[in-house]
Amino acid sequence: MRRLLIAGNWKMNKDIHETATLINELKERLKDFKNQVDITLCPPFPSLVVAKSLIKDSALKLGAQNMSQHDDGAYTGEVSATMLSSIGCEYVILGHSERRQHFKETDEIVNAKVKKALKSGLTPIVCIGETLEEREAGITDRIITTQIKDVLHELSSSDVEKIIIAYEPVWAIGTGRNATPDQANQVHRLIRKLVGQHYSWRVAEKLIIQYGGSVNPQNAYALLSQPEIDGALVGGASLSSDSFTRIIQAAVEAK
Ligand code: 13P
Repeated sequence: MRRLLIAGNWKMNKDIHETATLINELKERLKDFKNQVDITLCPPFPSLVVAKSLIKDSALKLGAQNMSQHDDGAYTGEVSATMLSSIGCEYVILGHSERRQHFKETDEIVNAKVKKALKSGLTPIVCIGETLEEREAGITDRIITTQIKDVLHELSSSDVEKIIIAYEPVWAIGTGRNATPDQANQVHRLIRKLVGQHYSWRVAEKLIIQYGGSVNPQNAYALLSQPEIDGALVGGASLSSDSFTRIIQAAVEAK
């Protein structure tokens, strides 16, 4: 049985004071939900160290939103995998569509980052998803197939056992227009099938596949009760303790 993972991607929101307020509120509201689902917070880099100390003694885990594909050196403005693991980060979001769109990240770069993250003991949350034009052109399956092949390039079965895939259709991100539970479930089933074919059914069965894109307290239950949906990567609705807690509650009820 796969454990649900609900992750909050705060994107470029919350300064250090707002980080402390939100985490303290979440700890209070989530007291009763301990250990029923996995919960990860992904604040911006400047808040990570403070966030780590605030979540100690709670079930909350910490993730970053990005990292460099390089080990160290002259890469001004970049943050490495070892830096993240040294402050107690356990997860890192890689290949988010906003990184692909605004910072020209390719599947090849994402693949290099996945390998570095694994080497440092981080769990990569690898984002894939089609654009609106691709969905309307009827090529979603082809796009997902290519992305899976490319982001997992040269990874072994034991590597793939340590990663999480987040299916985030680009047209659903920040638009208020989520994929229907059935649309999302179909793509998740395809992802699991592809991983089964490239690796093994045992690896595929264990793979956590999150859905992301306009998840909110109203649609979370319907999405998370789909058999192939193993969690949510939540953007806007993770910025308030009330809505994020209600999504976690929906996750507990869904499984
Ligand atoms: P929204 O939940 O704001 O649509 O963002 C989704 C997302 O990009 C999570 O990584």
